[in-house]
Amino acid sequence: MDNRPIGVLDSGMGGLTAVRELLKLLPHEDIVYFGDTGRVPYGTRSAEIVTHYALQDINFLLGRQVKMVIAACGTVTTTLPASLTTRFDFPYTGVLFPTVEAALAATRTGRIGVIATATTIRTGAYERELKKLDPSVAVVSAACPLFVPLVENGFVERDNEVTRLVARQYLSEIRAAGVDTLILGCTHYPVIAPLIGDVMGENVRLIDSGKAAADYAKTLLAEENLLADRRTAGRCSYFVSDAPEDFARNASIFLGERFDGRVDRIEITSYPDTI
Ligand code: DGL
Repeated sequence: MDNRPIGVLDSGMGGLTAVRELLKLLPHEDIVYFGDTGRVPYGTRSAEIVTHYALQDINFLLGRQVKMVIAACGTVTTTLPASLTTRFDFPYTGVLFPTVEAALAATRTGRIGVIATATTIRTGAYERELKKLDPSVAVVSAACPLFVPLVENGFVERDNEVTRLVARQYLSEIRAAGVDTLILGCTHYPVIAPLIGDVMGENVRLIDSGKAAADYAKTLLAEENLLADRRTAGRCSYFVSDAPEDFARNASIFLGERFDGRVDRIEITSYPDTI
């Protein structure tokens, strides 16, 4: 048993879709969330820059005495090299492995679509990992760079015409490929899952990478005997690198419930980028 908090990081607000799932799955856990709102987006940057940012984010969380780090960001997950993450001496998960496992469990036809940021798609990590675990699957990928700003600006209703138009365009090739499973490989995308689901059609299963990571974190903590030992509800602390008010105003879009948490701003650039 371990009552230290779970650390969750994202480039901005998208990781809150993983927090939403953690709150359901592990209501007694404390959570420390860091959203790098001053440096978002990561999904358009080089691997070097994303790695530098992500290591600073992780060092901030470790400084808050977290018992585990969840990189609830598709871009961080697919950019940090395994040669680095396998050397971490604390429990760590990104979204890649849990999401790939969930997609392989869901597919019946072996035709899987992946949508994510441009940086994530460029790494080819989803396709590689899917094929490593099941060489018979066919994978079609598409970068959807406009989804993040659309979500951050609140264009999220199921019938939003602008987002629907963009989604139709981005998803056309994946639809034509006849996939039965679609990985939402960026933690912003679950917010518009109903709209994406309408465009893809009801027979396509959507895999939420935030949820998959939260499910996996629960399993990992249970296996390592690191679950919290308390009956009261856990507390969430939120930290950002830009205006806390903006984060507080938009957090409910991602959490799916009213947000009344405390948000503090920190100077993330003062944290080291080595672990
Ligand atoms: N949260 C990021 C991801 O999951 C998307 C936002 C960004 O580009 O930083 O990839």
